[in-house]
Amino acid sequence: MLFEHVSFAGHERVVHAIDKTSGLQAIIAVHSTALGPAAGGCRLWRYECEVDALTDVLRLSHGMTYKNAIASLPLGGGKCVVLAPEEIADRPALFNALGRAIQDLSGLYWTAEDVGVSPADMAAIASATSFVAGLDQGEHASGDPSPVTARGVFTCMLAGVRRLWGQEDLSGLTAGVQGLGHVGWALAELAHRAGARLLVSDLDAARCQAAVERLSAEVVAPEAIVAQPMDIFVPCALGGVLNQASIPNLKARLICGAANNQLADLSAAEALAKAGHLYLPDFVVNAGGIINVASEILERREPEWLEEKLAGLATTIERVMEQAAAGDGNTARAANALAEARIAAGSMESSPLRLSA
Ligand code: NAI
Repeated sequence: MLFEHVSFAGHERVVHAIDKTSGLQAIIAVHSTALGPAAGGCRLWRYECEVDALTDVLRLSHGMTYKNAIASLPLGGGKCVVLAPEEIADRPALFNALGRAIQDLSGLYWTAEDVGVSPADMAAIASATSFVAGLDQGEHASGDPSPVTARGVFTCMLAGVRRLWGQEDLSGLTAGVQGLGHVGWALAELAHRAGARLLVSDLDAARCQAAVERLSAEVVAPEAIVAQPMDIFVPCALGGVLNQASIPNLKARLICGAANNQLADLSAAEALAKAGHLYLPDFVVNAGGIINVASEILERREPEWLEEKLAGLATTIERVMEQAAAGDGNTARAANALAEARIAAGSMESSPLRLSA
């Protein structure tokens, strides 16, 4: 039975979209529209089986409800996965078919870029629906979200530094950046400018070398970065990096980075709190990416709106740190509770993209 091991976890709607002509097989999951139309990226992935794809999309769309709520966006949570076929004969046709499936939902779900898809794929989706963001052309196109994501993470990092060391910059502090990709590089630059000494690691030696030359960084082997003597650990590569094996070796007091799903599981958050590490939850600090996408969906491309939302992330992370400190120190639990309170208090009525009944 397909559904035997899958929890629909309160999802409002799950659509299995099939188009025989283009070979499309996709699942669109709408977890919640309590705060507005569901928004979340579209992932193209080679799944072992349909149950894996369903499990993934349900988990991701649930996460988007929390991420959009914590960023105070008038958007609900949703996600879409495309099950990558052996071979894609006509990629624009495949994404056009997905666009038609999204259009059928009449605005219940907005899509954007995620792993495995490109702005060109978004353009193909846009040929069939207007419920798509992450375009690189057009009046409201928001382009690459990475610099905005980096700024959001950095703003939260400064809030953490203020709390732990009582200072407004990173002077005298060592930051270890894992992954010098789109976000990690931008973040390393911001940390360098703020006075941090940098340790960096990446699988790509050229990126590490550039950081040595331009940011006076020291290179550390990928498998060694987590356990380095450092003040701030900045995960910007993989998920699951904070786990029962890595946490006992972690020396950084502050953990603040862009990578999604840094915690292997919720027990990792407990272990971090017990060991006295201040972990700033990834779905709060990396919400700059979805804020950038939202600026396109909501047609709020004025810089003031973006700045206000990024400043809001810092205020939120301060609340999370306070509430965790007043309890058991578990920042992930505090952030989840705050998101849930916002979802409960919010209402679709307040969304500028209110759905018609
Ligand atoms: P990217 O693909 O541009 O960069 C990832 C970098 O990590 C690459 O340079 C890669 O070589 C490196 N890497 C991979 N495995 C590594 C390892 N074991 N050790 C050291 N380095 C390793 O990705 P991007 O866009 O910079 O995203 C980074 C993380 O942030 C991802 O987890 C992503 O899901 C998350 N994120 C990104 C957002 C964005 O706006 N781009 C928004 C929100 C979250």
